[in-house]
Amino acid sequence: MRTAFTLFLSAVAAAPFPDVGKGAPDVKIVHVKPECPQIHGKDFLTPQLMVPISASEPDKMFGYVREPIVTPNDICTLFNLHIPVSYSGKACAFEFMLPQIEDALKPYTHKGDGHFSFSWYVNKSANVLTTWNSQPKIETEWAVVDQVIVPGEKYVLEKPAPGSCWVDKSQTYLAVGARLCSNDTTLKFLEDWGKCPAGFFVEVF
Ligand SMILES: *[C@@H]1O[C@H](CO)[C@@H](O)[C@H](O)[C@H]1NC(C)=O
Ligand SMILES: *[C@@H]1O[C@H](CO)[C@@H](O)[C@H](O)[C@H]1NC(C)=O
Repeated sequence: MRTAFTLFLSAVAAAPFPDVGKGAPDVKIVHVKPECPQIHGKDFLTPQLMVPISASEPDKMFGYVREPIVTPNDICTLFNLHIPVSYSGKACAFEFMLPQIEDALKPYTHKGDGHFSFSWYVNKSANVLTTWNSQPKIETEWAVVDQVIVPGEKYVLEKPAPGSCWVDKSQTYLAVGARLCSNDTTLKFLEDWGKCPAGFFVEVF
């Protein structure tokens, strides 16, 4: 099982960056094993698109990745999620989880003191062509400016009022995004749920 999953991922990684519109499916719901630590819900929405951007190379297009990367004061990763309208009556939480080194699939690097910032945008999306210069405008009032993030923990970044999950009935889905940056830490990991969730997710209760 593990081997098949790893092989599938390396096959995908070997392919060139996908064309616009060919990214991951819009809404992917994953079911999580009950034995995963710190997990309360059973279902998670996974990012529809993840794209790194670089402050030092502000016009560089990294394209879609499965392995988000953050470097001190330079590379950030944007995560896009689509919340389907069927979630409008539900409680949800925006979360970031990092596995312990020994539980993680490769690659996995977490080097530094772990100060991260998360910033949000709603009703806007990044795409595979997004660069530092063209990134969606951040909604600063939702920024989580200094969160220490270390392996083995779960961080609840935002919890909309129960029964909203932000999406309203007038939309088929709500596009939300988050930008993860750090001033002192290099982070690279596989956004994955083959063992337990690792990365950015929306947990649905
Ligand atoms: C997103 O846009 C829709 C349609 O314009 C609007 O009804 C909704 O309130 C917006 N959602 C948020 C959270 O801003
Ligand atoms: C990173 O930011 C945090 C919080 O603002 C601060 O405490 C820390 O000293 C900063 N680290 C570096 C290397 O600038």
